[in-house]
Amino acid sequence: MNTEPRGAVHWIDHFVVGTNNMSAWVDWAVNSTGIARQPIIGLTTAARKRNIKITSFLWWEGGSCRIGAFLQPEFYPPAKELGKDLPRCGFYIRPEDIDKHLRRLDRHKVLHTDAIRTAADGDEGTVIYFADPDGNQYEFWAPVQMPEGAMDIATEESVGRISHAVFGARDLQKNAAFFAKYCGIEAEQDSKTAEGTLVLRLRAGGRLIYKRVDQVDERCSGHGTWWDMHTALTVRQEEFLPSYRKMWDGIPEEKAYKADLNLTIAEQEALPARTGLHRSPVGIRWKEICSRGDEFYDWDCHSFHFIGGKPLSANDSMARYEAIEQEDYLLELAQSIGKADQPDLMKGLGKDNPFNL
Ligand SMILES: [Fe+2]
Repeated sequence: MNTEPRGAVHWIDHFVVGTNNMSAWVDWAVNSTGIARQPIIGLTTAARKRNIKITSFLWWEGGSCRIGAFLQPEFYPPAKELGKDLPRCGFYIRPEDIDKHLRRLDRHKVLHTDAIRTAADGDEGTVIYFADPDGNQYEFWAPVQMPEGAMDIATEESVGRISHAVFGARDLQKNAAFFAKYCGIEAEQDSKTAEGTLVLRLRAGGRLIYKRVDQVDERCSGHGTWWDMHTALTVRQEEFLPSYRKMWDGIPEEKAYKADLNLTIAEQEALPARTGLHRSPVGIRWKEICSRGDEFYDWDCHSFHFIGGKPLSANDSMARYEAIEQEDYLLELAQSIGKADQPDLMKGLGKDNPFNL
């Protein structure tokens, strides 16, 4: 019998950063993780005429784990030292492969630390901090206890799925309450966890980690001039729409599209947890249908969205899952509010649309 909380989050499906140099970021991603190269979207005259965002998404076998980047409109300021800047994204690796990963990072001249043993963020294991050419930071994470499914999808260099994401928060309790209410995750208590650290353990594997900070993380989409960096959280496919409905009932929608609001940094930092427009063709259609966005923000300007997951094993385990994209829910969403006969509902959208992330 399934006793998990309603709307429980099972994994981090994808993590997306900003970049000032898309081709350099893709080279870095391929070299540092062994992920297969994918085309950069937006580099055609036709795309430029349509103002398509310049982006690239790279995915693990099966597509239930991805990383991506969006070209940003302004230059990033310098990042903090390795292991200090936020947000960060971690990837599972096997403990016996640590030296192999260090050698590969050296070979490709990727900035990294040594392997460091730690239990500060809720799990015991070994971490290697590293960075991309833009100064976005990442971690290879070799846990003492590997969750089921973590290495079942892996790159050809044996980098497994996303293990965790680390964000800054000015008030840990606000974010703890938010994720408890809307994502079915209770804050974890562990005496080994570092002070000022909130560990939110996901149902199948992986963690969301918040570190108490004085200032909002620079590189997040609800802050400053930046766009589109976000984290996607996997819920069971049948929980996808109910999870959004609960959120829409409980938190406000952003007042308007960020570019139209023209808020100061201080005003952006003061915004509450909220839902908002997901700047993709599907997200725009979504908001047209129901007047609510399928992106949501925590209390510290980080953006997220849910993604549906269909278990791949007969026992209903979410250790391995097939991702169900937002667009597959559009018709159900429209039906649920009596708009299913709306003409052109699915126009321009399809399984092969690369912009639905
Ligand atoms: Fe996404």
